[in-house]
Amino acid sequence: MVYHEQYSRYAGMVEETLEKLLPGTDEICPKTEGVIPEHLCASMRYSLMAGGKRIRPVLLLAACEMLGGDLEQAKTPAAALEMIHTYSLIHDDLPGMDNDDYRRGRLTNHKVYGVGHAILAGDGLLNYAYECLLENAAAYPENLRGHMLAAKAIANRAGVRGMIAGQSLDLLSEHMEPDAERLLYIHTHKTADLLTAPLLAAAYIAGASEEQIDALRRFGFCVGIAFQIDDDLLDVEGDAALLGKQTGMDAQRGKMTWPALVGVAAAKERSARLWDEAEEALGIFGERAAFMHGFAAQMRTRKS
Ligand code: IPE
Ligand code: IPE
Ligand code: MG
Ligand code: MG
Ligand code: MG
Repeated sequence: MVYHEQYSRYAGMVEETLEKLLPGTDEICPKTEGVIPEHLCASMRYSLMAGGKRIRPVLLLAACEMLGGDLEQAKTPAAALEMIHTYSLIHDDLPGMDNDDYRRGRLTNHKVYGVGHAILAGDGLLNYAYECLLENAAAYPENLRGHMLAAKAIANRAGVRGMIAGQSLDLLSEHMEPDAERLLYIHTHKTADLLTAPLLAAAYIAGASEEQIDALRRFGFCVGIAFQIDDDLLDVEGDAALLGKQTGMDAQRGKMTWPALVGVAAAKERSARLWDEAEEALGIFGERAAFMHGFAAQMRTRKS
Protein backbone atom coordinates (compact mmCIF):
# COMPACT_ATOMS: atom_id res chain seq x y z
CA MET A 1 0.00 0.00 0.00
CA VAL A 2 1.39 3.42 -0.85
CA TYR A 3 2.13 5.86 1.96
CA HIS A 4 -0.90 8.14 1.47
CA GLU A 5 -3.34 5.24 1.42
CA GLN A 6 -1.78 3.85 4.56
CA TYR A 7 -1.98 7.25 6.28
CA SER A 8 -5.68 7.55 5.35
CA ARG A 9 -6.32 4.05 6.63
CA TYR A 10 -4.81 4.86 10.05
CA ALA A 11 -6.42 8.32 10.21
CA GLY A 12 -9.77 6.74 9.35
CA MET A 13 -9.40 4.38 12.30
CA VAL A 14 -8.66 7.36 14.54
CA GLU A 15 -11.76 9.30 13.41
CA GLU A 16 -13.95 6.24 13.81
CA THR A 17 -12.65 5.50 17.31
CA LEU A 18 -13.00 9.11 18.43
CA GLU A 19 -16.61 9.16 17.16
CA LYS A 20 -17.31 5.97 19.06
CA LEU A 21 -15.75 7.21 22.29
CA LEU A 22 -17.18 10.74 22.21
CA PRO A 23 -20.51 10.71 20.41
CA GLY A 24 -22.58 13.87 19.91
CA THR A 25 -25.22 14.90 22.42
CA ASP A 26 -27.92 16.07 20.02
CA GLU A 27 -30.79 14.30 21.65
CA ILE A 28 -29.54 14.16 25.20
CA CYS A 29 -31.04 16.13 28.05
CA PRO A 30 -28.16 18.14 29.56
CA LYS A 31 -28.89 16.95 33.08
CA THR A 32 -29.24 13.24 32.39
CA GLU A 33 -27.12 11.17 34.82
CA GLY A 34 -24.02 9.58 33.35
CA VAL A 35 -23.84 11.61 30.15
CA ILE A 36 -21.61 14.55 29.34
CA PRO A 37 -23.53 17.86 29.60
CA GLU A 38 -24.41 19.11 26.14
CA HIS A 39 -22.46 22.39 26.19
CA LEU A 40 -19.35 20.70 27.56
CA CYS A 41 -19.55 17.88 25.03
CA ALA A 42 -20.05 20.35 22.19
CA SER A 43 -17.00 22.31 23.32
CA MET A 44 -14.86 19.13 23.55
CA ARG A 45 -16.02 17.93 20.13
CA TYR A 46 -15.59 21.37 18.55
CA SER A 47 -11.81 21.16 18.86
CA LEU A 48 -11.39 17.39 18.75
CA MET A 49 -13.35 16.86 15.54
CA ALA A 50 -11.96 19.92 13.74
CA GLY A 51 -9.71 17.85 11.52
CA GLY A 52 -6.19 17.97 12.93
CA LYS A 53 -3.50 16.03 11.10
CA ARG A 54 -3.76 13.19 13.67
CA ILE A 55 -0.06 12.48 13.46
CA ARG A 56 0.33 11.24 17.03
CA PRO A 57 -2.40 8.59 16.89
CA VAL A 58 -1.34 7.63 13.36
CA LEU A 59 2.20 7.06 14.65
CA LEU A 60 0.83 4.89 17.45
CA LEU A 61 -1.12 2.67 15.05
CA ALA A 62 1.70 2.52 12.52
CA ALA A 63 4.29 1.61 15.16
CA CYS A 64 2.00 -1.06 16.57
CA GLU A 65 1.57 -2.62 13.13
CA MET A 66 5.29 -2.33 12.35
CA LEU A 67 6.04 -4.24 15.56
CA GLY A 68 3.52 -6.97 14.78
CA GLY A 69 1.09 -5.89 17.53
CA ASP A 70 -2.71 -6.17 17.54
CA LEU A 71 -4.12 -2.97 15.96
CA GLU A 72 -7.47 -3.50 17.66
CA GLN A 73 -5.80 -3.08 21.07
CA ALA A 74 -4.12 0.14 19.94
CA LYS A 75 -7.14 2.05 18.61
CA THR A 76 -8.37 3.43 21.93
CA PRO A 77 -4.88 4.42 23.17
CA ALA A 78 -4.37 6.22 19.83
CA ALA A 79 -7.66 8.12 20.22
CA ALA A 80 -6.89 8.89 23.87
CA LEU A 81 -3.56 10.41 22.88
CA GLU A 82 -5.29 12.63 20.32
CA MET A 83 -7.65 13.80 23.10
CA ILE A 84 -4.65 14.73 25.24
CA HIS A 85 -2.97 16.53 22.33
CA THR A 86 -6.21 18.43 21.57
CA TYR A 87 -6.54 19.47 25.22
CA SER A 88 -2.96 20.78 25.08
CA LEU A 89 -3.87 22.89 22.04
CA ILE A 90 -7.08 24.28 23.60
CA HIS A 91 -5.15 25.37 26.68
CA ASP A 92 -2.14 26.57 24.63
CA ASP A 93 -4.48 29.01 22.82
CA LEU A 94 -6.02 30.50 25.97
CA PRO A 95 -5.55 34.23 26.69
CA GLY A 96 -3.28 33.37 29.64
CA MET A 97 -1.04 31.30 27.37
CA ASP A 98 -0.52 32.09 23.66
CA ASN A 99 -3.80 34.00 23.27
CA ASP A 100 -4.58 32.76 19.76
CA ASP A 101 -7.78 33.29 17.77
CA TYR A 102 -7.54 30.50 15.18
CA ARG A 103 -6.80 26.78 15.37
CA ARG A 104 -7.44 23.94 12.95
CA GLY A 105 -9.01 26.40 10.53
CA ARG A 106 -11.62 27.74 12.91
CA LEU A 107 -11.94 30.12 15.83
CA THR A 108 -10.21 28.87 18.97
CA ASN A 109 -12.29 27.09 21.57
CA HIS A 110 -12.40 29.99 24.04
CA LYS A 111 -13.53 32.38 21.29
CA VAL A 112 -16.61 30.23 20.73
CA TYR A 113 -17.36 28.68 24.12
CA GLY A 114 -15.70 31.20 26.45
CA VAL A 115 -12.56 30.81 28.56
CA GLY A 116 -14.35 28.85 31.28
CA HIS A 117 -15.60 26.18 28.94
CA ALA A 118 -12.33 26.05 27.01
CA ILE A 119 -10.60 25.22 30.31
CA LEU A 120 -13.28 22.63 31.09
CA ALA A 121 -13.17 21.13 27.59
CA GLY A 122 -9.41 20.67 27.99
CA ASP A 123 -9.80 19.20 31.48
CA GLY A 124 -12.58 17.01 30.13
CA LEU A 125 -10.55 15.65 27.23
CA LEU A 126 -7.57 14.97 29.50
CA ASN A 127 -9.56 13.04 32.11
CA TYR A 128 -11.68 11.23 29.59
CA ALA A 129 -8.54 10.10 27.77
CA TYR A 130 -7.36 8.25 30.89
CA GLU A 131 -10.82 6.84 31.53
CA CYS A 132 -10.74 5.39 28.01
CA LEU A 133 -7.16 4.12 28.42
CA LEU A 134 -7.99 2.32 31.66
CA GLU A 135 -11.18 0.80 30.34
CA ASN A 136 -9.30 -0.43 27.28
CA ALA A 137 -6.56 -1.92 29.47
CA ALA A 138 -9.15 -3.82 31.47
CA ALA A 139 -10.56 -5.27 28.25
CA TYR A 140 -7.26 -7.07 27.55
CA PRO A 141 -6.34 -8.93 30.77
CA GLU A 142 -3.82 -11.06 28.83
CA ASN A 143 -1.88 -7.89 27.97
CA LEU A 144 -2.59 -5.83 31.08
CA ARG A 145 1.07 -5.07 31.79
CA GLY A 146 1.60 -3.84 28.23
CA HIS A 147 -1.40 -1.53 28.48
CA MET A 148 -0.38 -0.24 31.92
CA LEU A 149 3.13 0.57 30.69
CA ALA A 150 1.66 2.26 27.61
CA ALA A 151 -0.67 4.39 29.77
CA LYS A 152 2.21 5.29 32.07
CA ALA A 153 4.39 6.31 29.12
CA ILE A 154 1.60 8.59 27.88
CA ALA A 155 0.95 10.05 31.36
CA ASN A 156 4.66 10.64 31.92
CA ARG A 157 5.24 12.40 28.61
CA ALA A 158 2.04 14.44 28.77
CA GLY A 159 2.60 15.42 32.38
CA VAL A 160 4.66 17.64 34.65
CA ARG A 161 7.97 16.11 33.53
CA GLY A 162 6.81 16.16 29.90
CA MET A 163 4.60 18.40 27.78
CA ILE A 164 3.42 20.51 30.72
CA ALA A 165 7.05 21.09 31.81
CA GLY A 166 7.84 22.32 28.29
CA GLN A 167 4.81 24.59 28.23
CA SER A 168 5.82 26.03 31.59
CA LEU A 169 9.32 26.93 30.39
CA ASP A 170 7.87 28.18 27.07
CA LEU A 171 5.81 30.74 29.00
CA LEU A 172 8.59 31.64 31.42
CA SER A 173 11.00 32.22 28.52
CA GLU A 174 8.95 34.83 26.66
CA HIS A 175 11.02 37.97 25.92
CA MET A 176 14.20 36.29 27.16
CA GLU A 177 17.45 36.22 25.21
CA PRO A 178 17.30 32.92 23.22
CA ASP A 179 19.47 30.21 24.73
CA ALA A 180 20.21 26.89 22.98
CA GLU A 181 20.06 24.69 26.08
CA ARG A 182 16.84 26.23 27.34
CA LEU A 183 15.25 26.03 23.89
CA LEU A 184 16.15 22.36 23.54
CA TYR A 185 14.51 21.68 26.90
CA ILE A 186 11.34 23.51 25.78
CA HIS A 187 11.12 21.67 22.46
CA THR A 188 12.01 18.30 23.96
CA HIS A 189 9.16 18.52 26.40
CA LYS A 190 6.40 20.63 24.88
CA THR A 191 6.57 18.78 21.55
CA ALA A 192 8.94 15.80 21.29
CA ASP A 193 7.49 14.11 24.38
CA LEU A 194 4.02 13.87 22.81
CA LEU A 195 5.58 12.46 19.64
CA THR A 196 7.64 9.86 21.50
CA ALA A 197 4.63 8.87 23.62
CA PRO A 198 2.73 7.09 20.81
CA LEU A 199 5.83 5.14 19.76
CA LEU A 200 6.53 3.96 23.30
CA ALA A 201 2.87 3.18 23.94
CA ALA A 202 2.77 1.08 20.78
CA ALA A 203 6.01 -0.65 21.78
CA TYR A 204 4.58 -1.70 25.15
CA ILE A 205 1.27 -2.83 23.68
CA ALA A 206 3.10 -4.87 21.03
CA GLY A 207 5.69 -6.24 23.47
CA ALA A 208 8.74 -4.75 21.71
CA SER A 209 12.35 -5.48 22.71
CA GLU A 210 14.59 -2.99 24.54
CA GLU A 211 16.57 -2.44 21.35
CA GLN A 212 13.39 -1.60 19.43
CA ILE A 213 12.22 0.73 22.21
CA ASP A 214 15.55 2.59 22.16
CA ALA A 215 15.33 3.03 18.38
CA LEU A 216 11.75 4.31 18.61
CA ARG A 217 12.72 6.71 21.40
CA ARG A 218 15.51 8.11 19.21
CA PHE A 219 13.19 8.37 16.19
CA GLY A 220 10.51 10.13 18.27
CA PHE A 221 12.98 12.60 19.73
CA CYS A 222 14.39 13.59 16.32
CA VAL A 223 10.92 13.80 14.77
CA GLY A 224 9.69 15.87 17.71
CA ILE A 225 12.46 18.45 17.66
CA ALA A 226 12.38 18.71 13.85
CA PHE A 227 8.59 19.05 13.96
CA GLN A 228 8.75 21.96 16.41
CA ILE A 229 11.56 23.70 14.49
CA ASP A 230 9.36 23.39 11.39
CA ASP A 231 6.39 24.74 13.36
CA ASP A 232 8.50 27.74 14.38
CA LEU A 233 9.61 28.20 10.75
CA LEU A 234 6.02 27.97 9.49
CA ASP A 235 5.08 30.69 11.95
CA VAL A 236 7.63 32.91 10.16
CA GLU A 237 7.19 31.81 6.53
CA GLY A 238 4.06 29.67 6.36
CA ASP A 239 0.61 30.29 4.93
CA ALA A 240 -2.01 30.90 7.61
CA ALA A 241 -4.80 29.54 5.39
CA LEU A 242 -3.00 26.21 4.97
CA LEU A 243 -1.91 26.06 8.60
CA GLY A 244 -5.36 26.89 9.96
CA LYS A 245 -3.75 29.22 12.51
CA GLN A 246 -2.34 32.75 12.40
CA THR A 247 1.31 33.29 11.56
CA GLY A 248 3.78 35.83 12.94
CA MET A 249 2.56 35.27 16.48
CA ASP A 250 5.82 33.94 17.98
CA ALA A 251 7.75 37.13 17.22
CA GLN A 252 4.87 39.25 18.47
CA ARG A 253 4.87 37.37 21.74
CA GLY A 254 8.66 37.25 22.12
CA LYS A 255 8.71 33.42 22.05
CA MET A 256 11.99 31.59 22.25
CA THR A 257 12.19 29.77 18.90
CA TRP A 258 14.83 28.27 16.60
CA PRO A 259 14.55 31.08 14.03
CA ALA A 260 14.95 33.59 16.89
CA LEU A 261 18.04 31.74 18.15
CA VAL A 262 19.95 31.06 14.91
CA GLY A 263 17.96 32.62 12.04
CA VAL A 264 15.73 31.00 9.43
CA ALA A 265 18.45 29.43 7.25
CA ALA A 266 20.29 27.73 10.12
CA ALA A 267 16.99 26.55 11.61
CA LYS A 268 16.15 24.90 8.26
CA GLU A 269 19.52 23.15 8.22
CA ARG A 270 19.05 21.92 11.77
CA SER A 271 15.61 20.56 10.94
CA ALA A 272 16.89 18.78 7.82
CA ARG A 273 19.68 17.13 9.83
CA LEU A 274 17.19 15.93 12.42
CA TRP A 275 14.88 14.45 9.79
CA ASP A 276 17.89 12.53 8.41
CA GLU A 277 18.82 11.35 11.90
CA ALA A 278 15.24 10.27 12.52
CA GLU A 279 15.36 8.00 9.47
CA GLU A 280 18.74 6.61 10.49
CA ALA A 281 17.23 5.53 13.80
CA LEU A 282 14.85 3.24 11.87
CA GLY A 283 17.67 1.03 10.56
CA ILE A 284 16.95 -1.96 12.80
CA PHE A 285 13.39 -2.25 11.47
CA GLY A 286 14.47 -2.72 7.86
CA GLU A 287 11.63 -2.82 5.35
CA ARG A 288 9.00 -2.93 8.07
CA ALA A 289 9.70 0.78 8.62
CA ALA A 290 8.54 1.80 5.12
CA PHE A 291 5.61 3.81 6.49
CA MET A 292 7.84 5.57 9.05
CA HIS A 293 10.25 6.55 6.26
CA GLY A 294 7.30 7.83 4.23
CA PHE A 295 6.14 9.79 7.27
CA ALA A 296 9.53 11.48 7.68
CA ALA A 297 9.71 12.25 3.95
CA GLN A 298 6.26 13.85 3.98
CA MET A 299 6.63 15.74 7.24
CA ARG A 300 9.93 17.39 6.39
CA THR A 301 8.25 19.35 3.58
CA ARG A 302 4.92 19.96 5.26
CA LYS A 303 3.04 23.22 4.70
CA SER A 304 0.33 22.60 7.28
C1 IPE B 1 0.54 21.69 16.84
O1 IPE B 1 0.53 20.32 16.56
C2 IPE B 1 1.28 21.93 18.10
C3 IPE B 1 2.72 21.65 18.01
C4 IPE B 1 3.29 20.74 18.72
C5 IPE B 1 3.54 22.42 17.09
P1 IPE B 1 0.04 19.77 15.14
O2 IPE B 1 0.73 20.54 14.05
O3 IPE B 1 0.19 18.29 15.13
O4 IPE B 1 -1.50 20.19 15.16
P2 IPE B 1 -2.80 19.45 14.58
O5 IPE B 1 -3.11 18.34 15.53
O6 IPE B 1 -2.50 18.97 13.19
O7 IPE B 1 -3.86 20.52 14.62
C1 IPE C 1 2.58 24.21 21.42
O1 IPE C 1 3.59 24.85 20.73
C2 IPE C 1 2.91 22.86 21.84
C3 IPE C 1 1.85 22.32 22.71
C4 IPE C 1 2.13 21.56 23.69
C5 IPE C 1 0.44 22.61 22.49
P1 IPE C 1 3.11 26.15 19.94
O2 IPE C 1 2.48 27.12 20.85
O3 IPE C 1 4.22 26.61 19.09
O4 IPE C 1 1.98 25.49 19.00
P2 IPE C 1 1.07 26.33 18.01
O5 IPE C 1 1.99 27.08 17.08
O6 IPE C 1 0.24 27.24 18.86
O7 IPE C 1 0.30 25.27 17.30
MG1 MG D 1 2.59 27.63 22.89
MG1 MG E 1 0.66 28.24 20.55
MG1 MG F 1 3.96 27.37 17.07
